[in-house]
Amino acid sequence: MKLPLVELHLHIEGTLEPELLFELAERNAVTLPWASLAELRAQYDFTDLQSFLDLYYRALDVLRERVDFTDLTCAYLARARTAGVRHAEIFFDPQAHTSRGVPLRTALAGVRDALERSVDEWGISTQLIVTFLRDRPADEALQILREILAGEIPIDGIGLDSAEVDYPPELFTEVFDLARAHGLRLVAHAGEEGPPDYVWQALDLLGVERVDHGIRSLEDEALLDRLVRDRIPLTVCPFSNVRLRVIDTLADHPIVRMIDRGLLVCINSDDPAYFGGYIDDNLAALDAEFGLGPDRLALLARNGIEASFLTPAAKAALA
Ligand code: HPA
Ligand code: ZN
Repeated sequence: MKLPLVELHLHIEGTLEPELLFELAERNAVTLPWASLAELRAQYDFTDLQSFLDLYYRALDVLRERVDFTDLTCAYLARARTAGVRHAEIFFDPQAHTSRGVPLRTALAGVRDALERSVDEWGISTQLIVTFLRDRPADEALQILREILAGEIPIDGIGLDSAEVDYPPELFTEVFDLARAHGLRLVAHAGEEGPPDYVWQALDLLGVERVDHGIRSLEDEALLDRLVRDRIPLTVCPFSNVRLRVIDTLADHPIVRMIDRGLLVCINSDDPAYFGGYIDDNLAALDAEFGLGPDRLALLARNGIEASFLTPAAKAALA
């Protein structure tokens, strides 16, 4: 039987598969810089986070109309269902769309249209987490958050993503304070390429409940003590870590060390269309590499449930 999986670190824009990208380009008469699927796929050879982000933002140009965002999200949910995902807390980057002229409402409503069908069509409950691009001004994030709070499309939480180094969490305290005041859940990417200090800042200045990636926490024993003591989840993304060269190879991944240290780690796919696979592929590769076995695979799945923003009753129903 498939484990009931929860996915907590998934950028919906990072699920844009090459085939859908080309289909949307044709539908919207967008001229692409790549002549074929093969030429596009040949670009998926990243040297670091920024080299990936350059392609990720470029590819989004094909998303223009509300229905495009719906189609993108439906395609992910259908694939997630085959992986055994029962609940997904999905990241969405408004600024990746508003900055190129797509209205906030168009993009957000398109994603929401798909999420509203998710339980009935794929048996997947969802939450929506708006992620702000940390390499853009905090004032812009604040303005978009205010616009969302004033609108009629609900979100469940906020996060921080994009280029990390030189953009510390402390820049976004006002944004997170506003989100907290409105009862939103709080997460942030930290300790992916950035130092452990950024994880401390995310916890102590932004008050995040969960840390995305957080892999560089391993460099700071006091931080590890804190994460273990407070059972702060880390949403780990093994294929992403390899493809963005945070680690050299999957064999070097510290997932076993993280489990053994008592960290509340769960496995996620980040940007599956770009990094070589979905959540089930990540888990299968870890199992093959480290011989995790059924007990540790089940532990990772249970950690995901615990780390989620589901109610205690919904968690109990999944476990
Ligand atoms: N890190 C930071 N920003 C991102 C990522 C990531 O892995 N994916 C999409 N935006
Ligand atoms: Zn991410």
